[in-house]
Amino acid sequence: MSEQSTVDQTLPEGIELTPLSDGFRQDPYGILRRIQQQTSVHEDRQLKRFIYTHHDHVKDILRDKDFWSDPRKGNPGTFMREILGSNSRADEEPSMLLMDEPGHRRLRSLVSASFTPATVERWRERTRQVVERVLDGIQTTEFNLISDFAGPVPTVVIAELLGIDPAKHDQFKTWSDESVKTAFNPFATEAQKAAGNAASAALEGFIASEIKTRRQHLGQDLISDMIRAEDNGERLTEQEMIRQTNLLLVAGNVTTTDLIGNGIKALIDHPQQLAKLRADPSLIKNAVEEMLRYDSPVVNSGRIANRDINIGGCPVAKGESLNTSLAAANRDPAVYPDPDKFDIERLDTHHQSFGGGRHLCLGAHLARLEAQEAILGLLRRYPNLRVSARGHTYHAIPSFRGMSELWLDSTPDTGGA
Ligand code: HEM
Repeated sequence: MSEQSTVDQTLPEGIELTPLSDGFRQDPYGILRRIQQQTSVHEDRQLKRFIYTHHDHVKDILRDKDFWSDPRKGNPGTFMREILGSNSRADEEPSMLLMDEPGHRRLRSLVSASFTPATVERWRERTRQVVERVLDGIQTTEFNLISDFAGPVPTVVIAELLGIDPAKHDQFKTWSDESVKTAFNPFATEAQKAAGNAASAALEGFIASEIKTRRQHLGQDLISDMIRAEDNGERLTEQEMIRQTNLLLVAGNVTTTDLIGNGIKALIDHPQQLAKLRADPSLIKNAVEEMLRYDSPVVNSGRIANRDINIGGCPVAKGESLNTSLAAANRDPAVYPDPDKFDIERLDTHHQSFGGGRHLCLGAHLARLEAQEAILGLLRRYPNLRVSARGHTYHAIPSFRGMSELWLDSTPDTGGA
């Protein structure tokens, strides 16, 4: 692997490196491998970001405590700055994901108790019940795994976690799906931005009324926990609670749907692995880690250089965007033997799919638990599963990788796995 850091004219840039391009949507891994092999740092001049594909660089950047995440600190026109620009309500304080210390630590510590492994584990039984309920709703032998199963499960789980009335779950899902489409999309059209903002505003209004109700009757749910939460005597303001709740939906729904969808697809594409998991369901925890490594729902994350730096032999100035390719890092041959092989018994499943350092995914344990229960529940319910003639379609949401459609046929005796 050559360690050059100069701009290679032949490497793709801009939209070609996002799921908005058909080539990248179908197979990001071939493109990312080319970049990884040809250069240590790829300067994407169109989107004004430096792309890091090597595992050690990605890991170090995400864990650097001094790099910034607040887009307002980025140099004008750079990728991270534009992410904020894609939100027309840019005058607002960003959410925890795009916040620096000390504000980030304060907000995170106020909600983190609800997401520890021990607290999340208490949700396992309820998650299992949600999975069974959603499966009961599938009435046809051929179904779209994404809209009929992988989409509803995380939305219903988070809605239950927030204590939302089941009658409102559908509306809640529509708003959160709409707002995520523009949340991290620097290419959103004016119409998309308007639709996204309208959905976010509706969602925020809804959350505000839920907070009001909860203030009168505190319950065993996340909104009540946030009202109760105290950190050095400090409470979350109503605006902060609304923004945190919104972030949980935006950060947690599409990603977990994509993990379940990508994971099931990987299993069906690898019948021996599927058979192994069916024979020994205790492999599920490792299988989900391998799914996260093999086909990460979040393709890239990022930071802003808080100083002039030189990583991988490439000087980068303060204020520039450092774009970490989680998808490339997870398949770096320098770290993973046979990186393109999907192996649910792989020992080296450690991955970068939840990011790292201060901003390490807060919902990682919940996402894992949901995926474990959803995948096992689906396999228990359907002894035969194969992709039907209607096939699959990848969605085109920048920074995310997943499908809008994955049609499965569950009829027996079709030669399926
Ligand atoms: C498979 C599913 C998921 C994936 C792949 C994923 C991935 C990520 C990634 C890559 C980050 C940025 C980390 C960084 O830049 O270092 C992140 C942050 C975050 N995620 Fe997740 N996520 C998932 C599910 C969830 C769920 C279910 C929730 C909550 C219900 C959640 C809540 C958050 C929050 C609040 C942050 C911001 C944390 C911070 O800034 O301190 N995520 N996630």
